[in-house]
Amino acid sequence: MIRTKICDMLEIDYPIIQAAMGPFDTKDLAVGVASAGGFGMVSHPVPQIEKGALSLVMGGEAQQRAINSVKEKMIRAVVEVGRKAKGNFGVNLRVAPEQPDVPFLLEALITEREKDPNLQKKLRMVVCSAGDPTQPHLKAIQEAGMLRFHTVPSVYHAKKAEKSGIDGLIVTGYEAGGHVAYEPLHTFVVVPEVVKEVNLPVIGGGGVCDGKGLVAMLAFGALGIYMGTRFIVTKECEFNNKVKDAIMNSSVKYQKEAATIVTQGVFGPLRHMKNRYSLKLYDLTQKMKDKEITVQDVWAYESEGMYRAKGPEGNIEDGAIWAGQVALRLHEQLTCKELIAMIMNEAEGIMKSFAKNYIQ
Ligand SMILES: Cc1cc2nc3c(=O)[nH]c(=O)nc-3n(C[C@H](O)[C@H](O)[C@H](O)COP(=O)(O)O)c2cc1C
Repeated sequence: MIRTKICDMLEIDYPIIQAAMGPFDTKDLAVGVASAGGFGMVSHPVPQIEKGALSLVMGGEAQQRAINSVKEKMIRAVVEVGRKAKGNFGVNLRVAPEQPDVPFLLEALITEREKDPNLQKKLRMVVCSAGDPTQPHLKAIQEAGMLRFHTVPSVYHAKKAEKSGIDGLIVTGYEAGGHVAYEPLHTFVVVPEVVKEVNLPVIGGGGVCDGKGLVAMLAFGALGIYMGTRFIVTKECEFNNKVKDAIMNSSVKYQKEAATIVTQGVFGPLRHMKNRYSLKLYDLTQKMKDKEITVQDVWAYESEGMYRAKGPEGNIEDGAIWAGQVALRLHEQLTCKELIAMIMNEAEGIMKSFAKNYIQ
């Protein structure tokens, strides 16, 4: 059986970590993954009030209401996952300057965890992303007894994060779904390079969906895999079936081309499935680069369509479907248990066949 140091650090059976997929809910998915022996992840929500994420940067009373809304949603999710999951899980915090909610979320998380021995056992890690790892308040994660990992897309960011005293790194390449780096560096290059340059446990992701990906990441020196898009297409994931079908059908629709594109997003470049919405966002991104419109115009359009696909409307042409390039390789919806078993069996089979066929 393949076990790595990350299994001991997170107290999980398999080196498979569900990626954060905020601002969308992933609590059912986190329960599914954690109960199947992987590591689940509660994502960072946006406020459930008018203007959503934008209200977090508006100042005044609206900002405070926004912070309270995020805090309430996140704590509710953490408590529910803690109650239902059979295994361990973590929480993602996007620590960008546009997220004044982070210190409040951290305080609430730590208080809730300290009250509840079950949460103390299961809530093992906070994965920070999208911002500066050296912010002093992030040290509270480790002081409270949790692991602090930071997500990075380059060696530069990895070294900066290492200096901040984190416990480990999540390294993802440009093929990943959701936000990606300004400088495109792919998983095949960035993961081994960070492993070489940094003396910390590394979990690798971006384009991983199966046992082949797990073996590749282990060969690069990573200790486990981080998967977002593949986990969307599972029975437990709360994203609606239209979104899951759009991802699975991409291999037919986009046989000879890429199924995803990168556009400007509120937090930088963003990878989506191609549809009417993302193609328009792509055009707006080009117009912004040519200075015909402002970044605020792009954000306004982005926010407008954010929930049309994943919400009750299920409008998969005019709404955002964030997903990675690996969408092209996904053909069936499995339970988390089936998926994890499939990945582990395939990875073990490959390793055995290497020993038999290639090593003299
Ligand atoms: C729908 C979606 C939402 C995402 N939201 C976040 C987020 O809130 N925070 C974050 O750190 N990464 C986010 N990501 C990136 C993932 O955590 C992860 O890096 C990526 O999914 C890995 O690549 P893959 O999709 O090829 O597996 C998101 C990805 C997707 C697909």
